[in-house]
Amino acid sequence: MEAGRVGRIKLGSQGLEVSAQGLGCMSMSGVYGLPKPEEDMIALIHHALNSGVTFLDTSDVYGPFTNEILLGKALEGGVRERVELATKFGFCSVDGKREIRGDPAYVRAACEASLTRLHMDCIDLYYQHRIDTRLPIEVTIGELKKLVEEGKIKHIGLSEASASTIRRAHAVHPITAVQLEWSLWSRDVEQEIIPTCRELGIGIVAYSPLARGFFSSGLKSIENLSHDDFRKLLPRYQPENMEHNKTIFESVNEMAKRKGCTPSQLALAWVHHQGNDVCPIPGTTKIENFNQNIGALSVKLTPGEMAELESFASEDIVKGDRSAHDIPTWKNSETPPLSSWKAA
Ligand SMILES: NC(=O)c1ccc[n+]([C@@H]2O[C@H](COP(=O)([O-])OP(=O)(O)OC[C@H]3O[C@@H](n4cnc5c(N)ncnc54)[C@H](OP(=O)(O)O)[C@@H]3O)[C@@H](O)[C@H]2O)c1
Repeated sequence: MEAGRVGRIKLGSQGLEVSAQGLGCMSMSGVYGLPKPEEDMIALIHHALNSGVTFLDTSDVYGPFTNEILLGKALEGGVRERVELATKFGFCSVDGKREIRGDPAYVRAACEASLTRLHMDCIDLYYQHRIDTRLPIEVTIGELKKLVEEGKIKHIGLSEASASTIRRAHAVHPITAVQLEWSLWSRDVEQEIIPTCRELGIGIVAYSPLARGFFSSGLKSIENLSHDDFRKLLPRYQPENMEHNKTIFESVNEMAKRKGCTPSQLALAWVHHQGNDVCPIPGTTKIENFNQNIGALSVKLTPGEMAELESFASEDIVKGDRSAHDIPTWKNSETPPLSSWKAA
């Protein structure tokens, strides 16, 4: 399917408008193998902007830090004004051990450090990447609210937050977007989180919409991935589960052939068909794959085709958890009540 010009959607109720598909920048700086050459990634980002994809997704933990530095360089010379830039905070390393932090001093310092790396005065959308469950969510959002008032960030987002955490956060300051893993084979968010976002008028940003490349290529030879490829740590991609899961890709691929599109386009079209409050942010490091992915916006699916696709990857068919066991998800994002909190 050929790509047309990418349209725009409203995200949340606070006036943020973004491209209907975003660009996930994480794998430009490692995670799925080695970091890619800076010059090529800057060319890819500029190509994305010229194609109408202006919603760029990064985090201080990608690299760590180098992905934000890359974006800072890519957006120099007046390019920044054409972009909606989203970044995240919360993962940090203490004595080589991963920690999640959302205390006010950390939030402020993380934001200022991101602004410096990005060469910006203001972040368009600042997410808490994972929830710090040691303190009430109201305390973290209280600091983010101050950053909004000071003009350092425009909008607040949450990533991997439960419905009740989202609700509590939204009562302190309107949440513009919730980022969550949502794809044909990761649908646990549909029961409570998506309805809560819709009730509160919060935009939905779908990360890993291609199942980290699984719906693009089937990832048949996980053993061939480089030793530091993050997917090697994820249960779903382990050889014993992949042996079973590969039939899901085969079914999607078969249907894509019938539809005259690619499996990536079909998997992304399924996300686009969830509603115009949903923005998938597929990640890629290649211009040809980027072009293919925006082509998904032209793929039309009937309710029957949606149901057929869903039947390939129903919960009982998919083997293995979506997330690594030592990384928190929305399932463990509850925070203590505000009444219990005594600030130091
Ligand atoms: N909030 C969170 O906790 C969280 C977690 C994970 C990711 N994210 C964000 O979401 C973004 C996207 O997620 P993701 O990168 O994990 O997974 P994804 O978008 O589902 O898949 C990315 C993978 O698919 C491959 N790919 C993409 N388009 C392709 C195509 N048309 N044909 C063949 N292969 C293709 C890419 O390889 P090539 O580079 O070779 O194209 C890459 O390996 C990230 O960049 C990051 O910004 C957020």
